[in-house]
Amino acid sequence: FAPRHLLSIADLSPAEFAALVRNASSHKKAVKSGSVPRNLLGSLSGQTVAMIFSKRSTRTRVSTEGAVVQMGGHPMFLGKDDIQLGVNESLYDTSVVISSMVSCIVARVAKHSDVADLAKHSTVPVINALCDSFHPLQIIADFLTIHETFPASGKAGLSSLGLEGLKIAWVGDANNVLFDMAIGAAKMGVDLAVATPKGYEIPASMLEIIKQASAGVSSPGKLIQTNVPEEAVKNADILVTDTWVSMGQEEEKIKRMKAFEGFQITSDLAKRAGAKEGWKFMHCLPRHPEEVSDEVFYSRRSLVFPEAENRLWAAISALEGFVVNKGKIE
Ligand code: CP
Ligand code: NVA
Repeated sequence: FAPRHLLSIADLSPAEFAALVRNASSHKKAVKSGSVPRNLLGSLSGQTVAMIFSKRSTRTRVSTEGAVVQMGGHPMFLGKDDIQLGVNESLYDTSVVISSMVSCIVARVAKHSDVADLAKHSTVPVINALCDSFHPLQIIADFLTIHETFPASGKAGLSSLGLEGLKIAWVGDANNVLFDMAIGAAKMGVDLAVATPKGYEIPASMLEIIKQASAGVSSPGKLIQTNVPEEAVKNADILVTDTWVSMGQEEEKIKRMKAFEGFQITSDLAKRAGAKEGWKFMHCLPRHPEEVSDEVFYSRRSLVFPEAENRLWAAISALEGFVVNKGKIE
């Protein structure tokens, strides 16, 4: 039996991605109304989920540990100073050994090839908790947030959340969070306009992955790229950004701060560019003031805190789909 892994939103069909978002939403509603679904409570009873984290984390760690506990399992946090990996032991040996003793590995690593190698040799599902290319758990939470905030404009069917016609503007760095967001948006028929400084565009190899991910989708969301923030923001329903300096890029900080000047999300930018009247703001966090002004970040337009909370429900949904239901996601 080969386990199914979640390394990117690209691993999911549109129907499976929509199902993970819908299941997250229904678990959230049920738990908040005091009726924990019977099939959820105890579904990981007696099982261990290993969390291999070679980078810092607030949301991903707290949401994953919390999700495993709510499902009756044991989350085992393995930080970079806790295990032999990277110092004294190979990925192959680590993967074979850890997967022989647990039901799932949730891994936050630097390189995509590292999480892919862990998955290749693991006998249990591996869930990517962020690598340099993707962040699928974040994007399940982001689409849950969008699903809760924007009434379905299209026809929600099995393969869709009915979000067709929405436009997301991403202003800032083309990074791991954006790549999975682009894949999710294409699959859900949501248009995405990306504004980055020159030299910081989506790499060609990633554009190919995004294009592949929308193959077979009846009306995929359109992806456009520009170097002008106003062009991306025009008519957008949702303005999104992330840090200009991702983990691992600290040495490029000075260069990046200069290159990204003029890319801060502000209400003036939204107004000047002509964002939709009811535009909202999203950010995966952690946030720095350079990429978004306080006045937007803490405004009524900001969805950042519900978006962060939604990481919990996304983690529950992903663990249910990949571990409890062994990759049968519906
Ligand atoms: N958004 C996110 O993944 O946050 P952490 O790095 O704190 O987990
Ligand atoms: N792009 C950021 C996301 C953090 C959640 C990083 O990789 O550091």
